[in-house]
Amino acid sequence: MTHQQEAVADVAASPSDVSPSSDVLEARGLTCRFGGLTAVDSVDFQIRQGEVLGLIGPNGAGKTTMMNLISGLTPPTAGDVVLRGRRLTGLPSHQVTRLGVARTFQVMRPFPGLTVRENVAIGARFGKAGGPGTMKAALGRADEVLDWMGLAHLGRAEIGRLTTGERKKLELARALAMEPQVLLLDEVMAGCNPREVGDVMELVQRVNDRGVTIFLIEHLMKAVMGLCQRVLVLHHGKRIALGTPREVADDPAVVEAYLGQRYAEARRTADA
Ligand SMILES: Nc1ncnc2c1ncn2[C@@H]1O[C@H](COP(=O)(O)OP(=O)(O)OP(=O)(O)O)[C@@H](O)[C@H]1O
Ligand SMILES: [Mg+2]
Repeated sequence: MTHQQEAVADVAASPSDVSPSSDVLEARGLTCRFGGLTAVDSVDFQIRQGEVLGLIGPNGAGKTTMMNLISGLTPPTAGDVVLRGRRLTGLPSHQVTRLGVARTFQVMRPFPGLTVRENVAIGARFGKAGGPGTMKAALGRADEVLDWMGLAHLGRAEIGRLTTGERKKLELARALAMEPQVLLLDEVMAGCNPREVGDVMELVQRVNDRGVTIFLIEHLMKAVMGLCQRVLVLHHGKRIALGTPREVADDPAVVEAYLGQRYAEARRTADA
């Protein structure tokens, strides 16, 4: 490993000041109402230190809203988000980021007209407290992150010229430049071709290997099965399952949520 690669390894690593089994992040009775619609309904769960926790559910289940609640973009109607024993509830998103929670967006928000490395550098500037103080230092950090991700060749490309897969990797790079302890990923593989899906899965795995805890929304079952130790399932804003990928895939309530009641009944009859 070169000196630069080690520096970037540090970027992605979290200080391991807690035992491996402890929870990093906790949702307690988390609820979000939009008028008469309850998008997230009294959800409890914990994310363990170092794990990849998946978040799945049919369209409109409340997955992105859940991430908005955790990252401080949307204040919850009720309940709490707790990071290593500290309440995040009510903090604005930039403060949540500074405390070590970074995210990517389902609808990507790169700064148009800027290059890839400039976009990543902005991530570095707004990341954890004590990040690079100058834009020059932030650009240096951006180059390290892009290099670590194997994306150095894209550094000077303009955002408008990137493919969907490249934009998704940029989103990941921008979030990584924030030096997160917890990384929230909202469908980072959507719109990627099969090769790009493989690349992004490998990147997510490498980030996790560096000790970053990951909470990942994904529709692609191959990625969920391949990356996640546990999976949380939402349906109409409610938690309907939480377990290993195998456990949730075999859970009748999950099958019913995805495929409808009639299919679940047919499956039960077939199994009997
Ligand atoms: N700002 C908002 N105002 C009003 N309703 C909203 C708002 N954001 C989300 N919703 C509604 O809340 C519900 C949950 O939306 P959310 O985007 O969290 O679902 P999702 O699980 O991420 O879906 P998808 O798989 O399509 O991304 C939906 O019915 C959606 O229309
Ligand atoms: Mg969503």
